[in-house]
Amino acid sequence: MLRTQVGIVGAGPAGLLLSLMLQRRGIDSVIIEARDREAIEATIRAGILEQSTVDLMAELGVADRLRREGVVHEGTILRFGGRNHRIDFKELTGGRVATLYPQHEVLKDLIAARLAQGGRILFGTKVNEVADVGTAAPVIRFAGADGAAGELRCDVVIGADGSYGACRPAIPADRRRDFLRIYPFGWFGILCEAPVSSEELIYARHERGFALISSRTPEVQRMYFQCDPNDSVENWSEDRIWAELQARVAGEDGFRLKQGRIFQKNIVPMRSFVCEPMQYGRLFLAGDAAHAVPPTGAKGLNLAASDVWHLDRALGAFFADGSTALMEGYSAAALRRVWRAQHFSWWMTSMLHRFPDASEFDDRRQLAELELVTGTMPAATSLAQTYVGMPFG
Ligand code: PHB
Repeated sequence: MLRTQVGIVGAGPAGLLLSLMLQRRGIDSVIIEARDREAIEATIRAGILEQSTVDLMAELGVADRLRREGVVHEGTILRFGGRNHRIDFKELTGGRVATLYPQHEVLKDLIAARLAQGGRILFGTKVNEVADVGTAAPVIRFAGADGAAGELRCDVVIGADGSYGACRPAIPADRRRDFLRIYPFGWFGILCEAPVSSEELIYARHERGFALISSRTPEVQRMYFQCDPNDSVENWSEDRIWAELQARVAGEDGFRLKQGRIFQKNIVPMRSFVCEPMQYGRLFLAGDAAHAVPPTGAKGLNLAASDVWHLDRALGAFFADGSTALMEGYSAAALRRVWRAQHFSWWMTSMLHRFPDASEFDDRRQLAELELVTGTMPAATSLAQTYVGMPFG
């Protein structure tokens, strides 16, 4: 049996950032994580960091490697009609930028920092039940790495255990509402050994469907193309993948992707999801446990950071003098940014993808929208501001 002030389920960006923030206030926390450390640190995932996420990591003293290895993006490319159209983040937002630094690298830095503080992270520990969250003494029941049953008693539980974790279902079904949209396409993602094809990300709209050209390191590139969500990676040979990607970025400017050996393929489903409220009693949801966005807007990790920014202040007030106003206001405060990001991610997705039932009218309208966004200051500024993100709170 263990005891702490804040029991955190999930060692993802939300759980780890929060435990580091709480430490600054002298609030004790324990993180329970189903996977082991090696698996978490080896799962290659996207990471576009908003300016505020970078600033938060810097404040927490975990931005040294990010500063060295993260790639600053002062703009991005929307590609349509066979040409590049650049959105200049820096100029349009008064100096704010996005930083490409993969999520598993963020996690390595956060885990190392938390362990160096003497923080407790129970890896390989599976939560079986989150109980008594309607009381002042909630309990998390788990099976440890050795299979032995254990219990963590705490004052507050943070559900930061992702889309399919045990925490969201601990909110009674009649006390929450789920909002879900499933898109009629997925992203076929590849990792390949090739040089960088473009210094900035390319979001490409094409009659054959969307494509995204991103990067992991100077030697490893990440690319995606819109696909049937029920397709299988087995149906796609290396040659077929390159032919499809090249076709989707082809244009009058003669642009070609630099090809190389493909060493990973996967298909990502696309959905938008929100659970309201994000709190029930002493249980607070953060990050993917409460919401999911399609990857087009690059908002996932940043929303997790925004959620825990609110939670840190709310828990700070609660443990300082017992005041519950910020805790009670958490869900409404966090949801404002969540819904803005939902709108943005849905909008970027809709503007850039080909829907199965799209008519020629829809094609022309989509192109007109892209012309508006890349050709007029107010629309370009709106995209740039939302992409690099407003300050938290
Ligand atoms: C990625 O690098 O995997 C990536 C970048 C931008 C996105 C989504 C994914 O919007």
